[in-house]
Amino acid sequence: MAGIKPVVMMPDDNARAYADSSAPAREEPNAPPLHATDEMLRLATPWFVAHARARLLSPSKLPPGLILDPACGSATQLIALCASLNRPGLGVELSGSAAPLAAINLERSGAWSDGDWSDSSRILWGDGTDAEPILQFYHEHIGVAIPVALLHVDPARPKDAQQHTLDEMQPPLDSLLTSWAPLLPTLPAIILDLSPRLSDTQRLEVEEMVSSIWPSSPTTWQWMTQGRGRIDRLSLWVGPAADSHPNRLVRLDKSGEFYGILAGDSEPTIANQIDVEIGEHLVIADPCLVASGLAESWKKTASMSEPRWDVVTGRRPTLISSEPILSTFHELHVSEKTYETVFSFVQISGEVVAQFPELEEQFISEIAQLAGSVGLSSLKLRCTIDPEIQPRFQSIMDKEMRLLSSENPSISGFIAEVSNGYVICKEHV
Ligand SMILES: C[S@@+](CC[C@H](N)C(=O)[O-])C[C@H]1O[C@@H](n2cnc3c(N)ncnc32)[C@H](O)[C@@H]1O
Repeated sequence: MAGIKPVVMMPDDNARAYADSSAPAREEPNAPPLHATDEMLRLATPWFVAHARARLLSPSKLPPGLILDPACGSATQLIALCASLNRPGLGVELSGSAAPLAAINLERSGAWSDGDWSDSSRILWGDGTDAEPILQFYHEHIGVAIPVALLHVDPARPKDAQQHTLDEMQPPLDSLLTSWAPLLPTLPAIILDLSPRLSDTQRLEVEEMVSSIWPSSPTTWQWMTQGRGRIDRLSLWVGPAADSHPNRLVRLDKSGEFYGILAGDSEPTIANQIDVEIGEHLVIADPCLVASGLAESWKKTASMSEPRWDVVTGRRPTLISSEPILSTFHELHVSEKTYETVFSFVQISGEVVAQFPELEEQFISEIAQLAGSVGLSSLKLRCTIDPEIQPRFQSIMDKEMRLLSSENPSISGFIAEVSNGYVICKEHV
């Protein structure tokens, strides 16, 4: 598609009327009004994620110049970066139906936010891999040659693809980077927004692609999660956009605020399966810790009482220690921020108060009796169990525990699976 002549999308009354009728703007609290068709929404970055990502950049590290998004879609991420940094933006979009809406989004967001970033911001309808003509055309249009300070790119992935190959991304990353490289600073700031399902091999391929063009550039892989034990976003931050560590895990809360940010070197998470004993403390941690290679660095901050990973695979990585996490004298003196970061990656934690070997329906009553005998009034299943039978098991357990609970004060417990069977834990509050 290289060679198609770019067109500047100038918002006028016709374009505004088209946007209002084809895809009325979504009005969300603390977000600019944004137009997007269903197809654009499928590909767009939610505003609160885009905004959080923009706040992770250190403005003082960026060279002077504009924010470039050569596959900008709805321009949501471009707008978040421009508004947060108060820098002009250049977005390029190949789709003739998305480009005019992106231009209206840019215009309305300029009026919504502070700063003068939108005055020389433009959306071009064209091929974002056609770097030189795009930049030249933009410079001619605004009458000043502003350099590129940051390249952000979020290529489209095949629809419904759980897995995809790198060359299925649109625009293709390698030709895009090769085309823009001569027009960027020697050590450019880049954010590559990629599929959270990229394999380690694919991540390595992307890294090689970048280092073949910019050999000495630092890079940071960033995993972003909104909880639920799932990686929601994966991105590679390059050059002045990179952190001082190669890996970063960001936990956002529901409103898009930072709940925890962990950065460090990638280390393998290794299980050390010594039998779990009554009286030990158990944490079911967020599996994103393992996925990001930062489980070890989290563990070192979380506990000084020689903790060990009992389970490292699946949805419930499980840490065992002799004391509750962040409870020893030295750990009690960590900052509130560190404390919050450690707990932002905890699903549940508790003290091991009983053990049993098998979790079968016929034993539920016995398990409930056991939990009751150690003073618990409720018991949640926090172990791997067939999702078809899990609700039935939990409901039988709840009934059994209710029969006993009149005798016990309200103390919650949970069942976890460890390498030597099942344990009942009294939940830490
Ligand atoms: C994943 S979306 C970007 C979403 C964007 N980050 C947002 O917040 O809305 C990728 C976009 O790249 C566009 N695209 C694909 N190939 C392109 C190309 N060669 N040049 C410009 N845009 C392209 C697609 O039409 C799509 O809108």
